Amino acid sequence: MSTYSFWLAGTAATGDTETTVVNPYTGEAVGRVSVPTAEQVERAVAAAHAVAAEAAALPAHVKAAALDHISRRIGERAEEIARTITAESGKPLKWARVEAARAVSVFRWAAEEARRDSGELQRLDTDAGGTGRMALVRRVPKGPVLGISPFNFPLNLVAHKVAPAIAVGAPVVLKPAPATPITALLLGEIIAETDLPGGMVSILPVPNEQAASLIADERLPVVSFTGGAFGWEIQRRVPHKHVTLELGGNAAAVVLDDADLDWAAQRVALFGNNQAGQVCIGVQRVVVTDAVYDTFVPRLVEAVEALATGDPADPETVVGPLVDEAAAERVQSWIDEAVAAGARVLTGGTREGVTVAPTVIADAPADSKVLRQEVFGPVLVLQRVADTDAAFAAVNDSDFGLQAGVFTRDLPTAFRAHRELEVGGVVIGDVPSFRADQMPYGGVKKSGVGREGVRAAMTDLTHERVMVITGIDL
Ligand code: SIN
Repeated sequence: MSTYSFWLAGTAATGDTETTVVNPYTGEAVGRVSVPTAEQVERAVAAAHAVAAEAAALPAHVKAAALDHISRRIGERAEEIARTITAESGKPLKWARVEAARAVSVFRWAAEEARRDSGELQRLDTDAGGTGRMALVRRVPKGPVLGISPFNFPLNLVAHKVAPAIAVGAPVVLKPAPATPITALLLGEIIAETDLPGGMVSILPVPNEQAASLIADERLPVVSFTGGAFGWEIQRRVPHKHVTLELGGNAAAVVLDDADLDWAAQRVALFGNNQAGQVCIGVQRVVVTDAVYDTFVPRLVEAVEALATGDPADPETVVGPLVDEAAAERVQSWIDEAVAAGARVLTGGTREGVTVAPTVIADAPADSKVLRQEVFGPVLVLQRVADTDAAFAAVNDSDFGLQAGVFTRDLPTAFRAHRELEVGGVVIGDVPSFRADQMPYGGVKKSGVGREGVRAAMTDLTHERVMVITGIDL
């Protein structure tokens, strides 16, 4: 079994202790990971702080060359990386391959954005006092970034922290999820092949308990967190820092009277269950208008029952295990609780170890956890509504607001959805789970603050600095 070093200021290092990463499906050890000591964590932060000015001044061609290199090397090692993602997270290989391909694109986009990041000129002679003056507005990094990433996309959600940081010239200290550090460490290997200055990237697989000191460290003025409700605790602890939170949701897919019901059933079935529902924008609530409900539901159930479930290492598998048994037990208990309160299970509703069968629930009480909270499991909860008004009201009746999907073919309804739905993104004609990595991505309400997506994250990690030029004949 391999033991993986961590990355301290761009150099491989080992600590005094190790942890074992376990395959959730087989229960077998995937590898051992060296854990940084407190002193090594301190060195990584000090290095990020020390290199900040040099990093901010890096020429675009240096940053873009590094980002292009990383993109190309992820592509070359895609199969190895995808298999590692599957082994440590239980994500079906089919989706792990998609994730590796997406990370190739994230780093490529970051290279392109680094090249075109020119700032803008603004004329100031619009009032007499500004005659002969103009402003050059450029963005500068807010400072070194602490990135904290989750288990459900062990590569691509690390990419969304690291790539924009490199593109703007901000050092980054990355803490991967304890369940899935190996993929991030493989990415560290690739980053170490570049000419970026030491100190620019550290990848530290420290336990969650050790995150507190990193969060509090004043040398890391930006915290970019993807995960659960702990994000709000981060914001509470360091209100003076720039905190970006990509948190979860209970995303809704809306099926309206004019929807293509076969397409909607296939897409909702697939994207409520792929990765065992462990996707922040996976479909959870399925809001269906009365006129099509009775036709749509049997098609949905049939599509869910047709999903290939099982060993995530099998390339045909669509739905694999949850990340651990505790997660599977929680999901099962939420299903049971809803049923005890009057909900009906149309399919699924059972658990075998870490695997929960893809489940469709109807008639869940309005206050049940499966409707109100984030299930993060393979559970679809139907809501029957009278019409479009009621459908949009149901979507907005949530503490969360990340993305929503609306199955309609009517353009005015599409624009209405975009106007009225309280979310960070509306997908017309498909599930809320669609994400292209260059799109601004993030939520409102309890789903978070700030935006990722390469360009949006670059904006988030920087602030504007204006230079006024005087004595110019325009
Ligand atoms: C997430 O689950 O937070 C990210 C979803 C995605 O990138 O597709």
